[in-house]
Amino acid sequence: MLRETYPYYLANKAVFANADLAVTDKYSGEVATRVAMADTGVIDSAIEWAVRAEKPLAAMPPYERQAVLNHCVQRFQERFEELAEALCIEAGKPIKDARGEVSRLIDTFRVAAEESVRIDGEVLNLEISARARGYRGFVKRVPVGACSFISPFNFPLNLAAHKVAPAIAAGCPFVLKPASRTPIGALIIAEVLAETDLPKGAFSVLPCHREGADLFTVDDRFKLLSFTGSPAVGWDLKARAGRKKVVLELGGNAACVVDADADLDDAVERLIFGAFYQSGQSCIGVQRIFGHAAIYDELKQRLVERTKQLKKGDPKEEETFIGPMISEGEATRLHNWIKEGVEKGGTLLCGGNRDGAMLDPTLMEGVPKGCAVVEEEAFGPVAVLAPFEDFDAVLAQVNDSAFGLQAGIFTRDLYKAQQAWDELHVGGVIIGDVPSWRVDNMPYGGVKDSGLGREGIRWAIADMTEERLMVIRTPQT
Ligand code: SIN
Repeated sequence: MLRETYPYYLANKAVFANADLAVTDKYSGEVATRVAMADTGVIDSAIEWAVRAEKPLAAMPPYERQAVLNHCVQRFQERFEELAEALCIEAGKPIKDARGEVSRLIDTFRVAAEESVRIDGEVLNLEISARARGYRGFVKRVPVGACSFISPFNFPLNLAAHKVAPAIAAGCPFVLKPASRTPIGALIIAEVLAETDLPKGAFSVLPCHREGADLFTVDDRFKLLSFTGSPAVGWDLKARAGRKKVVLELGGNAACVVDADADLDDAVERLIFGAFYQSGQSCIGVQRIFGHAAIYDELKQRLVERTKQLKKGDPKEEETFIGPMISEGEATRLHNWIKEGVEKGGTLLCGGNRDGAMLDPTLMEGVPKGCAVVEEEAFGPVAVLAPFEDFDAVLAQVNDSAFGLQAGIFTRDLYKAQQAWDELHVGGVIIGDVPSWRVDNMPYGGVKDSGLGREGIRWAIADMTEERLMVIRTPQT
């Protein structure tokens, strides 16, 4: 159950300033709780506090930052079911997926706790020529300073955690804007952080309207902006971000190749998961499926059969696999893309119906190039099938996309696996599984329109720190 109201967090403190933001239960559509919204003045003050916290946070010894992260791990374990229920309500995420996300939240903080005591440096031998005789270099990593974070609606806990946890490990204060439709997960993270001894100003979590949130992008007191969300918004933010570092985790139309030698029982189960879990609302959800001609008909028939069995309905019920999309508007948008695919010559294999925010899991084939359901990021429960004969050609088809986040290849051929790794223009190639697979200590991010930089704790810490060199000269006698 959600509480009646939630505060925002300004400089580590809960502030029940108002109850302006209504957060709905995404299945029933009813208002589930109300949340305090920050205005521009509050955001400005949070940034000021974050800047003031830069020095004390950087001076906090790694074992103390680790203790903060371990406290979070323990509290998330204790509040496991409450967190899962909150996700289920605010995001409409089926309860099993919601529990999965809470487990990942715990992993993310656990890995950050481990990494927080491993932020090491390097000793350099600088004696590369006679003029450098007697010189030695030492490099350490120092926190960049105050960070601006903007997190999305589809993983309200874990994608906020991928910014918050490495920031604490690295010693960077931050101001986080959670998605307005799903702010509760991030607010519970803030509530737990408020139980710790982080220096005042180390964190603020501020739900606010997008219009009021420009400071998150343009304010030069921030040294880094990390955004997860849509490509259109992300690239626009980067253009306006000024001198700060920018990390963008954006979308994709992920492809999965099923070669002739794949174990079809296994591939079908994984594809169903990859295409339809949490109603396809993942940047690495399977959207394009390429099946080898030798197994294509069999693959198609089994996928259709399994898709028709998926249980739709109330995400709070244990057996539900397909819940609502985040809003009726989003479901309508994708429904129109499906209709366009059919009008332009594609075949609907199953699904294709919508009731409010509930969109049936949908499989299509023969959808011509240029249709949004193939070219754009669907971010919903739809996948488009196509046969292929030649492995070189199918890799070119996977690459024929504006995006490049992850790709999946079902093959038992080591050489083809390596070829895919060499030739695919993506951030990650997953062999023997769908592109949707992610564990929280791996580098994660994309190329092309899919983004810039990598998350995954070690990589995020690298972004949130910079190298500082010290040179020592030993006079030669
Ligand atoms: C995303 O939607 O970008 C994140 C996917 C994940 O963390 O599994």
